[in-house]
Amino acid sequence: MVVMAQNCPNIKVIVADINPKQIQRWNSKELPVYEPGLDDIVVKVRGRNLFFTTDVDAAIKEADIIFVSVNTPTKKFGIGAGRAANLKNWELAARHIAKVATSDKIVIEKSTLPVRTAAAMKKVLHASQSGVKFEILSNPEFLAEGTAISDLQNPDRVLIGGETTPAGDAAVAKVVSIYSKWITNDRILTTNLWSSELSKLTANAFLAQRISSINSISALCETTGADVQEVAKAMGMDRRIGKYFLNASVGFGGSCFQKDILNLVYLCETFGLKEVAAYWDQVVIMNNWQKKRFSMKIISSMFNTIAGKKITLFGFAFKKNTGDTRETPAIDVSKYLLAERASLTITDPKVKSDQIRKDFDEYDVLPEGVKFEELVSVESDPVVASCGAHAICVMTEWDCYKTLDYKAIYDSMAKPAFIFDGRNILPHKELMEIGFKVFAIGKPYGAEHIMNE
Ligand code: UGA
Repeated sequence: MVVMAQNCPNIKVIVADINPKQIQRWNSKELPVYEPGLDDIVVKVRGRNLFFTTDVDAAIKEADIIFVSVNTPTKKFGIGAGRAANLKNWELAARHIAKVATSDKIVIEKSTLPVRTAAAMKKVLHASQSGVKFEILSNPEFLAEGTAISDLQNPDRVLIGGETTPAGDAAVAKVVSIYSKWITNDRILTTNLWSSELSKLTANAFLAQRISSINSISALCETTGADVQEVAKAMGMDRRIGKYFLNASVGFGGSCFQKDILNLVYLCETFGLKEVAAYWDQVVIMNNWQKKRFSMKIISSMFNTIAGKKITLFGFAFKKNTGDTRETPAIDVSKYLLAERASLTITDPKVKSDQIRKDFDEYDVLPEGVKFEELVSVESDPVVASCGAHAICVMTEWDCYKTLDYKAIYDSMAKPAFIFDGRNILPHKELMEIGFKVFAIGKPYGAEHIMNE
């Protein structure tokens, strides 16, 4: 919405949310999310044609087009628990629109939703007897966190799905005309509603599948002596494969991949497509295994005993350039290490201590009966965080970790000093020359090598 307001000065964009705290922060200097380049644009357009408000009713009444961007997390209870998307917020929003609207509207699904949600929403919206007409479109978002602004300014494509009726076509054309203010028409794709909904889920499933595929190969590299980065480069130079999204890692995180794949799996199961469901489920199984495998390497390399040893996690966010910790692999790794009673120090340039505490509570990361302070501390400076540590584990690929003074860090650590690079971003050779025992994903110098020395 921010980028739309920037590129369409003649369109009034209202962001309405029932959460006053969020709106207050959007109206303040400290925005509720960190995203490179976001602050600058908000400062320029806020109050010009971009407004943040809690007056949802007034915003609904005034709007011709409503983008519904509520969250749709994985259901935690009932039918489809652990897999299906929880559509409660979406349905509540649709009911609210139906109740308040006094003029015809285009209602757009911006949230990622299971296929055929639009059909259900159409029923909800048209259940009111007000005579107001609603046209439902799907316009899924493909931006990635950390690069959101450039993804929005210059997207690979914008996808708009609508009903194949004259009214549906007209609504699609209206939304196309907005995006075409800053995106060329060859990158604006229009489809039917279901194709649009399904494309979003499958795009994420395919992207995540690439990571699980390369992560599966990373395990093979570690046992055969191949180097996963060399293998990925050799494969990626085949234009049919392509070089992107082949970085082996401790595992993918974020609020989208796992949720969307589980959603796809549930959808397939619902339609009786057992084999298809199992096929996609394996992407998540592989990801969970990779997080566990990395944690087990840490434990086994450190002589199978980490109780009381200080282990420093470099990074907690699910990727660099964001403070978002949803489904971050750091949560899983912390859980495995804390189960062995390691003492963790966590450092991240954008994740605050409160957030880590909240995540530890929500995901039951601490062993039973153990309090946060007993085994966990949070330190903003990575050099200070490493002092006295037995091991450093790179969880997030923040650039700031690439250029630290590792000689000084080594000198301040307990010996042998270990580095477990879950993102393959550090200069491993240099680190080994300093004296570190290095384990990295899919690299020939694995834990076995360390132990056999
Ligand atoms: C993802 C998609 O990339 C977006 O296109 C999509 O719009 C978005 O989900 C969404 O559905 O909203 P995002 O989750 O923000 O975006 O971040 P990604 O860049 O896709 O990274 C996801 C995870 O995969 C991160 O933990 C990242 O570190 C990991 N990753 C990524 C790897 O481990 N290896 C790679 O090669 C690439």
